[in-house]
Amino acid sequence: MPPINLLALCGSLRQGSLNSAVAHTAASLCRPPVAMTVYEGLGGLPFFNPDVERECPPAEVLDFRARLAAADAVLITSPEYAHGTSGVLKNGLEWVVGSGELVDKPVAVVTASPSMTGGARAQAWLRETLQVMSARVLPHELRIPCATVKITNGRVTDEETLTGLRSVLADLTRETSQLGEPVPSGA
Ligand code: FNR
Repeated sequence: MPPINLLALCGSLRQGSLNSAVAHTAASLCRPPVAMTVYEGLGGLPFFNPDVERECPPAEVLDFRARLAAADAVLITSPEYAHGTSGVLKNGLEWVVGSGELVDKPVAVVTASPSMTGGARAQAWLRETLQVMSARVLPHELRIPCATVKITNGRVTDEETLTGLRSVLADLTRETSQLGEPVPSGA
């Protein structure tokens, strides 16, 4: 089986972020031929500006796009801020609306929050944005409520959450292996 290259984006810049812990735990759960890299550059991207995009996209943006293009699939972990995703993640996504690196790309969304809802509104919000960008958004929705008791020292420790995360990774991997398959006729 050829290597499967997954990229994780985390929408929180906070040190000690629950969502960053989810992304790093997911990376540690991957086994060859699947490998996951956590992209750490979202906070370094400039604010999206269509004029800058048209004239001369900055090196950070080109690097971000190249990493997304090279990934077979993407895992997004996001906090919920004021019932939406974070500005930093939305900004990153805006830089690839026009360039299209997420078009047809399998993308899984995970939200973690200390609240009982597990970031359900951010999850819905992100799925809508990714769908309009023509990403192949996985139906599997993993929300992690009460995340402060399920994540310890930067790692997911709750068994049920780990099972959910493994299942998301299995779905993502399956989607990448189905990418090359022709659409069945007469279905
Ligand atoms: C929050 N938080 C929050 N939580 C939630 O479930 N729904 C919400 O709408 C919000 N809104 C919100 C706004 C702002 C400005 C802050 C600072 C926080 C709480 C949030 O889920 C919590 O801080 C998480 O720990 C953030 O994710 P990370 O940084 O731990 O990944």
